[in-house]
Amino acid sequence: MKTIAFYSLKGGVGKTASAVNIAYLASQAGYSTLLWDLDPQGASSWYLAGADRIKGHKLSALMKGKSPIADFIHASRYDNLDFIPSHTSFRNLDVKLDQNDSVNLIKEWLALLSEETSLVVLDCPPSLSRLSEQVLKAADRVFVPVIPTWLSLNSWEQLRTFAKDHKIKPSRLRPFYAMADRRKSLHRELIDDQERHLPGSLNTIIPNASVVERMGEQGVPVELLAPHSVAADAYRRLWREINGLL
Ligand SMILES: Nc1ncnc2c1ncn2[C@@H]1O[C@H](COP(=O)(O)OP(=O)(O)OP(=O)(O)O)[C@@H](O)[C@H]1O
Ligand SMILES: [Mg+2]
Repeated sequence: MKTIAFYSLKGGVGKTASAVNIAYLASQAGYSTLLWDLDPQGASSWYLAGADRIKGHKLSALMKGKSPIADFIHASRYDNLDFIPSHTSFRNLDVKLDQNDSVNLIKEWLALLSEETSLVVLDCPPSLSRLSEQVLKAADRVFVPVIPTWLSLNSWEQLRTFAKDHKIKPSRLRPFYAMADRRKSLHRELIDDQERHLPGSLNTIIPNASVVERMGEQGVPVELLAPHSVAADAYRRLWREINGLL
């Protein structure tokens, strides 16, 4: 079983959109995929549950370990793709992780998953915290969407420093440009000199595209919503790059 996470300390950079699209493409490629929504906002659960209202379990149920992890898993509308929905109580996750700081709970929970799961995709809330530390240590790879702006580049640097300070191998973290808009001169400038501004990044750049926003309206991955769009092609390329690193 492999675990990947979409992470950034910055909000609204495309973590959830990437997690949902990549999880869907992975499931289509034959991975028995589990998307775990660790964000109390519950956005990725919402994308996968569609109109069905899914109630996630409370964090306390997971913490107490009373129910088997299988009870937390829901089937999505798609073959090979399951998910663990979020619950508003997950807003307390950081505090709880702090209280149990001798163990990596994220790692322990992942270890409980059955061998049938071949890929776990973690959709994380924006923060730099105990949760970040545990996710960065538990995931095989962490992918970090970076909008081509100075602020976003700056938060990537902060995450790298945080990783270094917590003895996390920097090679585990891979940034990629997301929500890129070539009509903006700053975006163009930072993309054209990508190697200097975002060294070690993936080659794929996810464009800013209205079709990605429409995922919210329709509750389906871009691959189904608009398979011939530039954005769908970008997510397919992103998936190929990620798959090559697993
Ligand atoms: N490539 C894109 N092009 C256009 N809009 C996008 C793109 N990716 C995401 N969005 C939109 O931007 C908003 C934020 O995206 P998303 O929820 O994926 O970010 P996030 O990093 O998960 O945010 P949060 O930190 O709140 O969890 C959403 O409305 C989404 O539809
Ligand atoms: Mg999100």
